[in-house]
Amino acid sequence: MYLLIPAAGSGKRMGHDRNKVLLPLLGQPIFAWTLLAAEAATSIQWIGIMGQPIDFPDFQACIDTLPLTKPVQLIIGGSTRQESVYNGLQALPPEAEQVLIHDCARCLATPDLFDRATLALQTQLGLIAAVTVKDTIKVVDGDLLVQNTPDRANLWAAQTPQGFSVKQLKDCHERGLTEGWEVTDDAALFERCGLPVHILPGEETNLKVTTPVDLAIAEFILRQRQNQ
Ligand code: C5P
Repeated sequence: MYLLIPAAGSGKRMGHDRNKVLLPLLGQPIFAWTLLAAEAATSIQWIGIMGQPIDFPDFQACIDTLPLTKPVQLIIGGSTRQESVYNGLQALPPEAEQVLIHDCARCLATPDLFDRATLALQTQLGLIAAVTVKDTIKVVDGDLLVQNTPDRANLWAAQTPQGFSVKQLKDCHERGLTEGWEVTDDAALFERCGLPVHILPGEETNLKVTTPVDLAIAEFILRQRQNQ
């Protein structure tokens, strides 16, 4: 399986001026934890990482310290996640028929989750890891007035990895460009093209490190794993 890791974001919501995936978490960058999980997933054979060129020296220095056996390619990312994934898709080896896409900021995803996604893709065209929501979700307008309350039983929080047939996903990205669609995950492009996206049971601990609180929670979870 081919894995693309979008890592070309910034650290704005983290209150930093540098890429948040370079922030330290229990002694090594967030970036390193994500790569180690991908390395440990037996189904992954190739890893492409989309980043901003300014971060490449730090990315490469980190890669050089890790015990990686799989080929890792750095790919120039774009100004949005959507653009970064587009660039990643163009850089895939021509023989890649299926791809997993996993946000670098989700550094707690386990190798098992990648392997389950790979297995499920044998029979599915598109899938996303997701968990049921615990909170009641409100739809709110610009004046902070609640508009409605969707039935929680139908709501799932999308995570990554997300997995797709390469050809179909490339077609969806091209259509997204033509139509001017702006989306925050790849499944949304698949959906808009009328293609099926299946749910793969995700992991409660697979949080996206976005704010300083997330970093503290991630550290707690990793310590727990190390003590087990
Ligand atoms: O900003 P957010 O946390 O939603 O980004 C999700 C993932 O997409 C992160 O791993 C981030 O590095 C990546 N990203 C990207 N290119 C961008 C913006 C975000 O690869 N232009």
